[in-house]
Amino acid sequence: MEGFTPYFSVIIPALLLATASATKLNVPRLRLSYKDLLSTNRSSIFSGHHGQLSLTAVFLDEYRDRLFLGGKDVLYSLLLGPTSSESREIYWPPLPGNREDCIQTGKEPQTECANFVRLLQPYNRTHLLACGTGAFQPMCAFISVGHRGEHVFTMDPLNVENGRGKVPHDPSFPFASTFSGGELYTGLTADFLGRDSVIFRSMGERSTMRTETDQKLLHDPKFIAAHLIPDNDDRDNDKVYFFFTEKATEAGDREGAIHTRVGRVCANDVGGQRVLVNKWSTFIKARLVCSVAGPHGIDTHFNQLEDVFLLRTKDERNPDVYAIFSTISNVFQGFAVCVYRMADIREAFNGPFAHKEGPDYQWGAYEGRVPYPRPGVCPSKITNQPGKEFGSTKDFPDSVLQFARSHPLMWRPVFPALRQPVLVKANIPYKLKQIVVDRVEAEDGQYDVMFIGTDVGTILKVIALHSGNSLETEEVTLEELQVFKVPTPITSMDISVKRQALYVGSPAGVAQVKLHRCEMYGKACAECCLARDPYCAWDGSSCSRYVPNSKRRFRRQDIRHGNPALQCVDQNLSEDLDVTEDKMVYGTENNSTFLECVPRSPQASVSWLVQRDDRKEEVKLDDRVMSTDQGLLFRRLFHQDEGIYICHSREHGFTQTLARLTLQVLPGETVDELMARDNAGLSDSFKDRSGGNYRAWMPCSSYSRGASSSQMSQSRSWFKDVIQLIGPSNLPLVEDYCERMWCNDKLRRKHKSMLEKYRQAQEGARKARSKSSGERNRTPRDLRAQEGY
Ligand SMILES: *[C@@H]1O[C@H](CO)[C@@H](O)[C@H](O)[C@H]1NC(C)=O
Ligand SMILES: *[C@@H]1O[C@H](CO)[C@@H](O)[C@H](O)[C@H]1NC(C)=O
Ligand SMILES: *[C@@H]1O[C@H](CO)[C@@H](O)[C@H](O)[C@H]1NC(C)=O
Ligand SMILES: *[C@@H]1O[C@H](CO)[C@@H](O)[C@H](O)[C@H]1NC(C)=O
Ligand SMILES: *[C@@H]1O[C@H](CO)[C@@H](O)[C@H](O)[C@H]1NC(C)=O
Repeated sequence: MEGFTPYFSVIIPALLLATASATKLNVPRLRLSYKDLLSTNRSSIFSGHHGQLSLTAVFLDEYRDRLFLGGKDVLYSLLLGPTSSESREIYWPPLPGNREDCIQTGKEPQTECANFVRLLQPYNRTHLLACGTGAFQPMCAFISVGHRGEHVFTMDPLNVENGRGKVPHDPSFPFASTFSGGELYTGLTADFLGRDSVIFRSMGERSTMRTETDQKLLHDPKFIAAHLIPDNDDRDNDKVYFFFTEKATEAGDREGAIHTRVGRVCANDVGGQRVLVNKWSTFIKARLVCSVAGPHGIDTHFNQLEDVFLLRTKDERNPDVYAIFSTISNVFQGFAVCVYRMADIREAFNGPFAHKEGPDYQWGAYEGRVPYPRPGVCPSKITNQPGKEFGSTKDFPDSVLQFARSHPLMWRPVFPALRQPVLVKANIPYKLKQIVVDRVEAEDGQYDVMFIGTDVGTILKVIALHSGNSLETEEVTLEELQVFKVPTPITSMDISVKRQALYVGSPAGVAQVKLHRCEMYGKACAECCLARDPYCAWDGSSCSRYVPNSKRRFRRQDIRHGNPALQCVDQNLSEDLDVTEDKMVYGTENNSTFLECVPRSPQASVSWLVQRDDRKEEVKLDDRVMSTDQGLLFRRLFHQDEGIYICHSREHGFTQTLARLTLQVLPGETVDELMARDNAGLSDSFKDRSGGNYRAWMPCSSYSRGASSSQMSQSRSWFKDVIQLIGPSNLPLVEDYCERMWCNDKLRRKHKSMLEKYRQAQEGARKARSKSSGERNRTPRDLRAQEGY
């Protein structure tokens, strides 16, 4: 497939079905709540000195071990040292009068007419460059941050420069920038109305460069990222790449069609001599395709770019480009992560130019003669040969510049590696917003661990596995971390491999989150192995950080298959995991009861066996006996349900016993009898009961304080309380409950004898009952009739 793939993206039910059937696997293996993260020191939050930070810019400075933050009228510097949590603040409001002017023009005082810091870039060895919207009057300033080891953080408020072309006026407008060689490259709208979309270069010695306005090279672009990526060892070939979404003019007159682009300019572009003066003469762009094949050859396209992460490798010319895309359909919301190789991007730029002969013609590949130097090529040693001396874009012939302005788009799109996304999510109740990736060395190879930020304050930690030679990818969601207390969109993510931490920004603040916490997976080899986390391995005694090439011999890890049977065979599997202790659960006949069993991993499936007279069989499920995510629910308990219930979980072919519960069914008549008999005798043990309000249990302290005996007018039997407990939501053992209920010894003895009496009674009833089997063959249909359905 070459050229423009059809834009038309049909909503393919097959895609939805595929994701639905794989849901069990896409469920995160471990879900950690906000509280879990804080209590285990996995995460810590900074929300500014005055609460709401309204974070709008982050710069992670690994050299200085500092995190710089920009928000609404404020800048922060945080020390990242292991012991320090020191922070400094600079108040940076709009220039005098600008806030008032902004309000005058009808803008929102709170959300628009403030200085929202959008840019924080390292400038030189002692200073950062910061730019803010300045209440619709963009401004920039240098911030003194000192040398490494110092915690300097000051700004001269008088030394402020015009920030036009460096950040947008509107705090909500998309924007991308990169700073290189003392110059700032930006992709943005550079005017008050937000209509002048440009790629700018400013600061430094050379004159400011921008995209042309009269020839439309950009169509309502939404800039996401900008990066300088060298082409080869010749620095003259350095190029700055822009990633953005724009209106797809080549898609014809289809309303709302947009495409994602990668565009680039040469860093040494200084524009033309007679045409394109101070305008880019090397700008070209190509489409980035991210799609999944559907039936009948119609692909589903993810056209809107959400975020880009450059996974840099030792070869600085060839980072992997990770990108999150979304669909723009109103009926179907889907997200995909695609990975692009620089070689494929360069190949598209070296291929044919897109061309349209005239308004009535189709788009096609340009087949005529392309002038020399080929548009998009940087002036370098290669173009500067004797006889063809093009040492600067100012030397380029007019024909080259004319061709460049009329053919900015390449004909061939860039396809992702393996021609398909590494991750697809459809029908999820949240959006994917940000991505960072860490390449992790594991026992059986390298894994790219993706950390994906959502619009609800969570982070997904995901790996994509390729099974064998097949193109199929299996995505494994290792963890879901609820980083922010309330749902809030994640707006920035930075990774520090050095600190093994993520810095996650949202309007609510910034969180430092550790990349891994291997102990959380459990205390057994099998649990560690099932986690399939490339950061973690079983070291013979615990689940801990996997360090490649370390001298330790006992390293058990199996990311690809997660097969503990193979990895942990000599590691005391059953002893560590299987539950040996039986628990008692009481239920009342004709009432409901619940046997709790929740596997540690939501990816595991649970099965129930029941054992009676040394015979084990699978529990028959129907309308009356239902398996739920939390355990086994008996909507109405029959006497013949008695038995030992065994809960098994199964994950990746690995089975473990989670619970053994002995269910005893108390016959209703006995209950009534006992209640009647013991009402008087025990009622005084509930003297501190207030009114008729039932409390599930009472801590000893409040009980022993128990004052007003007079309040206990109605006689309530302890028994009723016991029965109350045996409901779906609250099912500790009877004894456990009683332990909490009767904290003093005297009452405990009394209670024990009661319970004994009760058991005897129940045993008698059971014997009597086993003679008659009248109730045994009841069907769910009968039941429904009884329950009044
Ligand atoms: C978390 O850190 C605090 C302070 O450094 C420490 O006292 C506490 O024990 C840590 N908690 C855990 C679970 O590691
Ligand atoms: C860095 O830039 C600032 C602002 O232009 C300047 O005042 C400072 O002297 C520079 N520092 C160094 C080390 O060049
Ligand atoms: C397994 O358990 C046995 C008995 O508890 C113990 O002697 C042995 O050292 C354990 N083996 C390992 C590998 O932990
Ligand atoms: C349970 O329900 C059945 C059918 O309604 C009834 O015959 C039986 O007596 C009930 N048992 C108790 C203990 O209420
Ligand atoms: C069933 O249990 C509830 C409390 O869980 C109790 O209020 C109700 O009386 C019980 N019903 C029977 C028939 O025992």
